[in-house]
Amino acid sequence: MHVRSDAVVLFGVTGDLVSKKLFPALYELTRRDRLDVPVIGVARSPWDDQQLVTTARKSVAEANDEIDDETFDALARNLSMISGDYADPVTYQRLAERLRDAERPIFYLAIPPAVFGAVVEGLAAAGLADRGRVIVEKPFGRDLASSQELDRTLRAAFDPQRVFRIDHYLGKEAVEGLYAFRFANRLFEPLWNNQHIDNVQVTLAEGFGTQGRAGFYDTVGATRDVLQNHILQVVALIAMEPPVADDTDAFREAEAAVLRQIAPLSPESTVRGQYAGYRDEPGVRPDSNTETFVATRLTIDSPRWAGVPFHLRTGKSLPATATEVVVEFKQPQQPLIRAEGGAGASANLLRFRLGRGDGITMSIQAKSPGAEVASRPVDLSVDFGVALGHRQEAYERLLDDAMDGQHLRFAREETIQQEWRIVEPILDLPAPVQTYEKGTWGPADAEALAGGWHTPYLR
Ligand code: BG6
Repeated sequence: MHVRSDAVVLFGVTGDLVSKKLFPALYELTRRDRLDVPVIGVARSPWDDQQLVTTARKSVAEANDEIDDETFDALARNLSMISGDYADPVTYQRLAERLRDAERPIFYLAIPPAVFGAVVEGLAAAGLADRGRVIVEKPFGRDLASSQELDRTLRAAFDPQRVFRIDHYLGKEAVEGLYAFRFANRLFEPLWNNQHIDNVQVTLAEGFGTQGRAGFYDTVGATRDVLQNHILQVVALIAMEPPVADDTDAFREAEAAVLRQIAPLSPESTVRGQYAGYRDEPGVRPDSNTETFVATRLTIDSPRWAGVPFHLRTGKSLPATATEVVVEFKQPQQPLIRAEGGAGASANLLRFRLGRGDGITMSIQAKSPGAEVASRPVDLSVDFGVALGHRQEAYERLLDDAMDGQHLRFAREETIQQEWRIVEPILDLPAPVQTYEKGTWGPADAEALAGGWHTPYLR
């Protein structure tokens, strides 16, 4: 068993990620008696301890209907602040002083890529990397070469066993549910191949825009922001072979193995879009060619998946917020039952709803009422929130795991590099992005790419 981390250090504590996700996660861990250690915020802004506590309270209040004062006070007693320049050795000396009793501190790097190297080197120079764990947030580089460069920086300071790369989709219970669904049920796994599956669609749609992050987003775009990481992780879970053993290494190896079999994406089967009005947002370059929408086709070169297209799309300012995987099965081998009204029967669909209101909806054909033997599609649906109750938030689970030194839900170095290899041909394409109206499903060409998309199940 690994030693549990006995201090948490949040670099970039004044940022968006910490307020939106990490303070609520720390509060939840405190509530579950999983966190009673010093939590030290580090940032350039001149905050004092009180400002840190006030911000933490505000973000916990935003994430919860009500705050349990006893829990929050317990967290607040552990919070303290260090303000300082990331390039200044004094910042790290002060940190080392505050961590003098900590045997296994964990450093969470929620900082822009530009200061990443300075922080890692600062920690190493102060002797903190030797005994610490480090959690690295995306974006993990801008392409294959820069992600390898980041890995070199990290490896020079930290033992690889103590590096945790976050893709928060791996921490989502709903996403992990794909793995459980496939390997805990006998029902579908025998059909999980190109004999029975016609195509797979993955949609990560957001009904909102850049939410005040336009300056950052404009340097990134949809492919780097979510396709390279979250969507490819989902594809890996849908497509992977069963791990050879029930352990972390085997799981991560199976995940990397399927990524290795994915062909690099091609510009010819990719459609990039940008919503109208994006260029007028503060922080966006007036001639920006950054995509706020991308749709593409992926193929997997394996006996299981040869010939099965995976259509992927993601975008901002779409008609809804929904993350879904739709697995479309082939038609019955013998067309004995006509579809009601003489139309072609719609295929069986298995729809994994991974966002809010997660669950599974299966479309099957049932006999339609009346004298005729014909069929009509009906849905079998389960809402996991109703069936299973409360599930933990991704960041809460990921922090808890990293503090325990558990790697199951963190991406391997190779996994991230494979993901970059796959998306590299469609990064920074020179062709102009196609404009789409806000509240639509992206440019018209995206529709044609998949031969029609299944509209997410909206509730
Ligand atoms: C983040 C992206 O990694 O994932 C955001 O930077 C995106 O742009 C978010 O909105 C989506 O995550 P979730 O958990 O809200 O689906």
